[in-house]
Amino acid sequence: MSSGTGLFVTFEGGEGAGKSTQIRRLAEALRARGLDVLLTREPGGSPGAEAVRHVLLSGAAEAFGTRMEAILFAAARNDHVEEVIRPALRQGKIVLCDRFMDSSRVYQGVTGNLEADFIETLQRIAVDGVVPDCTLILDIPARLGLERAKKRGAATADGPDRFEKEELETHEKRREAYLDIAAREPERCHVINATQSEEAIAAEILAIVDRRLAPVLTDRMPEAANE
Ligand code: TYD
Repeated sequence: MSSGTGLFVTFEGGEGAGKSTQIRRLAEALRARGLDVLLTREPGGSPGAEAVRHVLLSGAAEAFGTRMEAILFAAARNDHVEEVIRPALRQGKIVLCDRFMDSSRVYQGVTGNLEADFIETLQRIAVDGVVPDCTLILDIPARLGLERAKKRGAATADGPDRFEKEELETHEKRREAYLDIAAREPERCHVINATQSEEAIAAEILAIVDRRLAPVLTDRMPEAANE
């Protein structure tokens, strides 16, 4: 375990991969078993980070460059970690987070053209040891993901955010970058084929998380017996 006694699971992927639907389904499935689940998201998840979210997604920081944006994402992440995620893990909760540090590696690092060292240094400061136990990467061909995201955008008044607006080629690069991270960190990362049915994806995710949960729940049994 990287942190406390809970379990820290992050969801990652490009646009239109179905992360939000799947994270909600996983939270429901775990809660139905009586487990204590915290569902959160980035950028945001704490009052300080939500204030920065608006600055980033509206594009207000875009004119100041990708470095500035990367530092703002990291500042928001650190607040979220210290105010919400670390305390929840210490309380033994299962924390499910929609996007986390890999989004910065991919969006700011790879497609924002920032040096890997700069991004890694920022991430170390931002997460300060709170590294996900398990990261589910929802993988979808960029074109298909974009089509789905556009349909969703058309259905909401907001339209595409600052990072959704970019070209197909950029989305392809992000997909490759996620697959590279998964290849480099196979213990932590699982790539899920997000073109499957919603049901099939949900079942695959639950099976993966169950395997991660088993040792955590076993560790707690002696405590339960002593109560
Ligand atoms: P959000 O509305 O939460 O959408 P999504 O459904 O795509 O997760 O928007 C978050 C946007 O911010 C998304 O386009 C990815 C981007 N982002 C980064 O560029 N870097 C980061 O570190 C994070 C967390 C998000």
